[in-house]
Amino acid sequence: MNAQTNHNREARNILIQNDRGGYTVPTAGLYPYQWNWDSAIAAFGFATFDISRAWQELETLFSGQWEDGMVPHIIFHKPDPSYFPGPDVWHCSGPIASTGITQPPVAATMARKVYEQDKAAAAPILKKLFPKILAWHRWFIQWRSDDQNAICITHPWESGRDNAPEWDAALKNMTAEGVGEYTRRDTSHVDPSMRPTKFDYDRYIWLVQQGASLNWDQQKLLEQNPFRMADPTTTFLLLRAHKDLLALGTELGLDVSGIQDDIALLTKGAESLWNPEIGSYDARNAHTGAFAGCQSSASFLCWFAGIENATQLEKLDEAFGNTNHPIASHPTTSEHYDSRRYWRGPTWAFMNMMIGIGLADQGHKEQAERLRAATADLIRSFGFAEYFDSTTGEAAGGQSFTWTAAVWLAWINPNERRD
Ligand code: GLC
Repeated sequence: MNAQTNHNREARNILIQNDRGGYTVPTAGLYPYQWNWDSAIAAFGFATFDISRAWQELETLFSGQWEDGMVPHIIFHKPDPSYFPGPDVWHCSGPIASTGITQPPVAATMARKVYEQDKAAAAPILKKLFPKILAWHRWFIQWRSDDQNAICITHPWESGRDNAPEWDAALKNMTAEGVGEYTRRDTSHVDPSMRPTKFDYDRYIWLVQQGASLNWDQQKLLEQNPFRMADPTTTFLLLRAHKDLLALGTELGLDVSGIQDDIALLTKGAESLWNPEIGSYDARNAHTGAFAGCQSSASFLCWFAGIENATQLEKLDEAFGNTNHPIASHPTTSEHYDSRRYWRGPTWAFMNMMIGIGLADQGHKEQAERLRAATADLIRSFGFAEYFDSTTGEAAGGQSFTWTAAVWLAWINPNERRD
């Protein structure tokens, strides 16, 4: 048996072992529930060997959808005291216990990828999923567009890039007064040097307490939440997801009215995140209009959204040149760079996959291949880690990680490649 086969087998085993019956956990211990964008990516991985399981993953995710269309960032299917903050802190009243915030919407894009592998079997499932996905997308546009049509997050966790330096200034301007005593669980699973600091964590919990006290009412949050940042990840992913949903709906003969208009608005929103001062897409504070002043791996999701930008392509060359283990979540040249601390420097395989798919779709085949090769090397050398030290390549965070295994199966593994 060669090394490639071993990796395939290991990746499949990780998905199977992280399966909790209809949904996968990102990794045992550290993340014991269903996470939104992790699950969408897991579906893409499952589709390489079990398409019906891939659909089940997406269906289970949408079983937690709220009446207003929001799909939660975590669904607490079964209580697990090893995780904090759990359902008793969030105080939510959706159909299944969940958090009150969402995560970047990549489900439509992954659904389209799964659909393409077996269209006939998928059509009836997708017809049911379509209105649910559309309701979620519309929820973003209704509640989270800023005055320039970019899409905002109301909690750092909503970006999926929890402690990225983009959020520093907004968090510093907030108080965590009254947050009270609590016990973190993440730092008992993973070395604290790889996790967000206490300063950040206090503010994460304060924001959860505020949301709960406002009953997760979006109108009230709009008026009172001090943290509102237009986010490149969410904006680019929603734009891409909308395009995929339009393609799916058109092919299935469903009502797609209005989606094209939303795409036009989102395209403007995405373009508005261009920060000429740093020559990159950037996050922007919706309260003050100020850019965060940070390039990040999310800046390179523009191609995934179908947006071309020559300067961003030059920045990609720099990102490739500055480390052997691209793409660092925050530039290696920045004063805030920390090669092991979560979203302040480490390399994430699933981000590389989305960036790589975007590059390939836009015709930048050479860069896409380069990124795929670098990501394959990381996983071959250091395993299916949550993320990787972007200076040394070493594994960091949780192990046997669902989305890293899915990336291997769906994007890297040449035996499974369909392109
Ligand atoms: C962390 C990541 C987030 C991910 C979650 C589960 O919070 O920042 O993107 O969804 O872990 O893997």
